[in-house]
Amino acid sequence: MPGDGIGNQVLPEAVRVLKAVDFDAEYIHADIGSDCWCREGNALPPRTVELLAKHRLGLFGAITSKPKKEAERELKPELRGKGYSYFSPIVTLRQKFNLDTCVRPCISFPGNPLNFIRRKPDGGVDEPHVDVVVFRQNTEGLYAGVEWTNPPEQVRSALATHAKFKPFVDIPGPDLAISVRIITRKAAHKICRAAFEWAKKYGYRSVTICEKPNVLRETSGMMEDAAKAVSKEFPQIALRSTNIDAQTMWLTKDPENYGVVVASNLFGDVISDAFAGLVGGLGFAASANIGDDVAIFEPTHGSAPKYAELDPPIVNPIAMFLSAVMMLEHVGETGKARLIREAIAAVVKEGKVRTYDMMRIPGGAKAVSQGAATTSQMTDAVLEKLGRQSRTIVQPELADMAR
Ligand code: NAI
Ligand code: MG
Repeated sequence: MPGDGIGNQVLPEAVRVLKAVDFDAEYIHADIGSDCWCREGNALPPRTVELLAKHRLGLFGAITSKPKKEAERELKPELRGKGYSYFSPIVTLRQKFNLDTCVRPCISFPGNPLNFIRRKPDGGVDEPHVDVVVFRQNTEGLYAGVEWTNPPEQVRSALATHAKFKPFVDIPGPDLAISVRIITRKAAHKICRAAFEWAKKYGYRSVTICEKPNVLRETSGMMEDAAKAVSKEFPQIALRSTNIDAQTMWLTKDPENYGVVVASNLFGDVISDAFAGLVGGLGFAASANIGDDVAIFEPTHGSAPKYAELDPPIVNPIAMFLSAVMMLEHVGETGKARLIREAIAAVVKEGKVRTYDMMRIPGGAKAVSQGAATTSQMTDAVLEKLGRQSRTIVQPELADMAR
């Protein structure tokens, strides 16, 4: 599902990398995004849902999502005013397939000029190694989509039974917008358990529950209770609890002190972007959306429309590669995953091939003449490292690749 904009540029590059490690897969294209919306009034056509239900493993590029009114204007004329409304296809996919576990690793590659550095008291700087994996509950919370402007009377009267609603009782409907933050105990336990299991599997020493239970006593309270309950099954892993606001401040102070971080939907979205900023930002941020049956892997970035038309493409494909790496790990192809990760690490460390974002120069047509690598040059560099590595890898891995 390349989707829109730069999704169409980075996804094919990831397939090149997957092929280079001989990942034995059939690649099936599925439509998603803007074109589908404009032509069919649905950014997520039923045929794509069927393909995912059947094949259960998805690689997704990015989509362009438009505000309500703008989306309406882009519909082809015969569909306008027929009651079609735009829904984000990725949010819909998360809900349709109950992709309730979102995993977002934020792990720094040594040599990345975008890595976070910290000033030391003596005036020097140091570069802490960041190795954080954020677990975000992906289907509930403030993103569940239960919201209104001008809420129906039954909703208003139900809310009026809450003492704290008193100041809002007389606000005219059109001037009142409400979003509901829904947390279920089952989902809270599930995301917390996934976080602890990851910590155990990969040797992290702590799980941090990042919420705001002192203010959001019920919803964040339920998340924190779930973390406490689950932590009892993992006595070797420390449970820490932080507030989302303080956490965004602390993470630039001592990011090396965090391991696995778990949060509800919105807070997980926020904190994973914040940690991603310490390890290279959107060009390096990958994520997995995992459900019981279906799993979809995607870079965190969007469709970056302003770069979509550039020829040659210049955006960084590494976030997409790392999403493919997560897919390989998910299906147990850990050897191939490691090969790709190590090849990326080698390219970053060497520092010869860097996309514009890694050079901290403006993206645009001029970037290449200023020395920035194009998207496909970055892929070539990774493939070259894979070539070198595949000559030196150990025997069992070779056997694994040949299979
Ligand atoms: P964006 O992530 O598309 O781009 C923001 C900026 O980040 C870009 O202008 C570029 O400077 C940089 N950037 C993004 N990806 C990069 C890469 N691979 N390499 C180098 N630089 C990169 O976010 P924006 O501009 O806010 O949204 C554009 C569209 O994408 C919107 O329609 C938005 O709704 C959608 N979007 C979709 C997402 C998804 O499909 N999961 C996620 C985020 C946004
Ligand atoms: Mg986000």
